[in-house]
Amino acid sequence: MTEHNHEANDGTRHDTERGAFIVLEGIEGVGKTTQMAVAEQALKDAAKSLVCTREPGGTAAGEALRSVLLDKDGAPLSLEAETLLMFAARANHLHEKIRPALNRGDWVLCDRFTDASYAYQGAGRQLGVARIAVLEKWVQAELRPDLVIILDAEPELALTRAKNRGPVDRFEQESLDFFHRARQVYLDRAKAHPERYAVIDASMPLEAVSQAVAATVAGFVHQWDQS
Ligand code: TMP
Repeated sequence: MTEHNHEANDGTRHDTERGAFIVLEGIEGVGKTTQMAVAEQALKDAAKSLVCTREPGGTAAGEALRSVLLDKDGAPLSLEAETLLMFAARANHLHEKIRPALNRGDWVLCDRFTDASYAYQGAGRQLGVARIAVLEKWVQAELRPDLVIILDAEPELALTRAKNRGPVDRFEQESLDFFHRARQVYLDRAKAHPERYAVIDASMPLEAVSQAVAATVAGFVHQWDQS
């Protein structure tokens, strides 16, 4: 196996090959579940050894926390408690699954990560992005995703799709304003770090969105393998 010297996102150069960390994001109803399958297939086509996972969740404790966080009939949570539980699940996920996978050279494809905390708790619930940044630094140190694909659509369109899917969870019942704020933070973050973010128009026909996701993943794989 050739040894690559990737400049990893944790600020250190790795002597051995580390896998890439890819995240899919977007507000409710943008078609994230469908596009996770498209991204997974594109990575398998590129012969990448892959770990697919999700947040909140991904570990036994994380999935238990997910139930607490998403159950709209569950006990009320303060905004601080909700945010800390998201990061508690994330700390466990990083420790048990994400870092070990990346370190052994596997690629990780994750359905949501810390951008969702910026968008939903930071902006949607108006905790402020600065407080999310503190937790991000504490829980992740320098580790950041190598690629974040944001599926973007007007909340008016996306929420109509989400509501047609059946029962809603704690977040899906939020207001249009909440999702306008969340969307804006996703777009702001993508604009601030264009080298690590790809924004895809999720209001296009499904086939076009799928093609764009597959092409973005394939382009990233090519770039990573060349570096
Ligand atoms: P999903 O798996 O259907 O996307 O549901 C996860 C929900 O959790 C979604 O509404 C977004 C929300 N969420 C946050 O609010 N903050 C976070 O940090 C993460 C990872 C998810």
